[in-house]
Amino acid sequence: MFDMPKFEKIWLSIGVGSLILFLLISGVLGVAMGLNPPDGLENTIEPEQVEAAPPFNELGVKQIGDNEYEVNVLSFIFGFDPKEIVVPQGATVHFKMTSKDVVHGFHIPGTPVNLMLTPGHITEYTHTFNEPGEYLIVCHEYCGIGHEQMYAKFVVE
Ligand code: CUA
Repeated sequence: MFDMPKFEKIWLSIGVGSLILFLLISGVLGVAMGLNPPDGLENTIEPEQVEAAPPFNELGVKQIGDNEYEVNVLSFIFGFDPKEIVVPQGATVHFKMTSKDVVHGFHIPGTPVNLMLTPGHITEYTHTFNEPGEYLIVCHEYCGIGHEQMYAKFVVE
């Protein structure tokens, strides 16, 4: 005959053991992730106070070197500030961007610039623009009723 209570004890301890193991693993992971957020704290910003905080208190194009520029852009429903960005041919542009409200996109078709702007985060990207021309900047993340009207102009002259 089987000793049923003994089997139950074994199964019960396996069950309780795996539950404790699961809680330990998720607890350790949670604490580890909490202590070390993936994007790094220096890349976050308060979305409510974004216009008063550097670098977004100075929007637009700022020369920082020999044909090297920092371009600070703020996105919001439904637009970009500035509405037009002009840089010389061959300029290396360091974009620093964020959103004031919801997730927006920042895409310059014909270039590798294809970014996501999330409220509370500073999106950084560097690209050198060798091809002169007028480019359209579009939001390619659906952000609401005015999404289709959300665009700006990028000029390489
Ligand atoms: Cu902003 Cu779509």
